[in-house]
Amino acid sequence: MTAPKKLFIKTYGCQMNVYDSERMAEALGGQGYVETATPEDADMILLNTCHIREKAAEKVYSELGRFKGLKAENPDLKIGVAGCVAQAEGQEIMRRQPLVDLVVGPQSYHRLPEMEARTRAGEKALDTDFPEEDKFEALKSRPKAARGPTAFLTVQEGCDKFCAFCVVPYTRGAEVSRPADRILTEARDLVDRGVREITLLGQNVNAYHGAGPDGDMTLAQLIWALDKVDGLERIRFTTSHPNDMSEDLIAAHGDCAKLMPYLHLPVQSGSDKILKRMNRSHTADSYFRLIERIRAARPDILLSGDFIVGFPEETEADFQATMDLVEEVGYGYAYSFKYSTRPGTPAAERAQVDEDVKSERLHRLQGLITRQQRAIQDGMVGREVSVLFEKQGRFDGQMVGKSEYLHAVHVNDAKVDIGALCRVRITGSGSNSLAGEIVAAS
Ligand code: 5AD
Ligand code: SF4
Repeated sequence: MTAPKKLFIKTYGCQMNVYDSERMAEALGGQGYVETATPEDADMILLNTCHIREKAAEKVYSELGRFKGLKAENPDLKIGVAGCVAQAEGQEIMRRQPLVDLVVGPQSYHRLPEMEARTRAGEKALDTDFPEEDKFEALKSRPKAARGPTAFLTVQEGCDKFCAFCVVPYTRGAEVSRPADRILTEARDLVDRGVREITLLGQNVNAYHGAGPDGDMTLAQLIWALDKVDGLERIRFTTSHPNDMSEDLIAAHGDCAKLMPYLHLPVQSGSDKILKRMNRSHTADSYFRLIERIRAARPDILLSGDFIVGFPEETEADFQATMDLVEEVGYGYAYSFKYSTRPGTPAAERAQVDEDVKSERLHRLQGLITRQQRAIQDGMVGREVSVLFEKQGRFDGQMVGKSEYLHAVHVNDAKVDIGALCRVRITGSGSNSLAGEIVAAS
């Protein structure tokens, strides 16, 4: 028997890339590859890239440069670029970095086995198509390895919203929803392999409208179908757009016990002028009213968001409106970014805000968000939460898991297994995690 070839995958960007990397590893598993944690002993290196901000793309080129030595030592080493930078820059990557053997976009990675074979024959392989066939179905022959207790499951891809700053509609293409029966089959398979919590993924996940037994299903209907899967204990979904928070999805947050009280609902800005220029088609006020309805359905829900500061033509008053919105909503988590020009998007052509103004605004916003995050986390002390344990902690006997609110929680000297779901009383709040004591296994 020949020794297995080794595959090193480095994943950048969003959770959808994490899911895609798992699928790519499975696709190449059929070619005799096993994953390795280090690039040094790899026969193939794949960078699964993100194009959402400029820095993310530049990181890929500097990372590729670092593999020069490895390739010189091992000429049989194949280097590939996957994901959204691959989609956006395709040929340009091969031109700029000749040590790249393979470039594969996010819609065609089921063709990796055949592409890998071509690279072994000494050719370069590039595929950034949007093929007709369903890449998820084409990858059915996956090995049934045991899994940790949490998993991602992509249910929807692409976006038709065309926010003026965003490359996603160009790199991931138009919105496509997977049929519900395939998602349910994949979910049952994950549960059989030890998964107890599934996060449904999509660039616009709450716009889900996949085919079901009686016509198209909404995300809420899909969640209710997953609710019936025995052994699946927790359901999450991300990322949502405010305009697609339908009534049934809001209601599910109150009625579906398996749906966790956490919602990532990016608003990007608190200024109506900027929201209009971003092509967001909602206002700060309509967002507030939406949050009110969601909180009426599930009062303890923890909200998270994304914000962009320094979007073209953002004034200090516009920025202040974002700060006011954050104050009013109260976020448990929030991700904030300086606006980054993306070639080909409408906002790239507009009058840009100075870099140091962006930096200063980001600093203020992040200060506010951190204070809110800490206050919400500190407010958990004394409360009882449910924790799904995922791994051992840094210290002997320490176990770490996530609460229903997605806070990391660690307990000491507890006899709990990975995958256990327990009631935990929170006893302390650190900078990024909570400490607790087991009350009962649930
Ligand atoms: N510049 C800065 N942030 C961006 N995002 C998307 N495009 C850009 C850009 N050009 C942010 C948005 C989005 C998150 C995934 O990334 O906040 O919600
Ligand atoms: Fe990008 Fe999200 Fe806007 Fe779609 S809804 S264009 S993915 S920011």
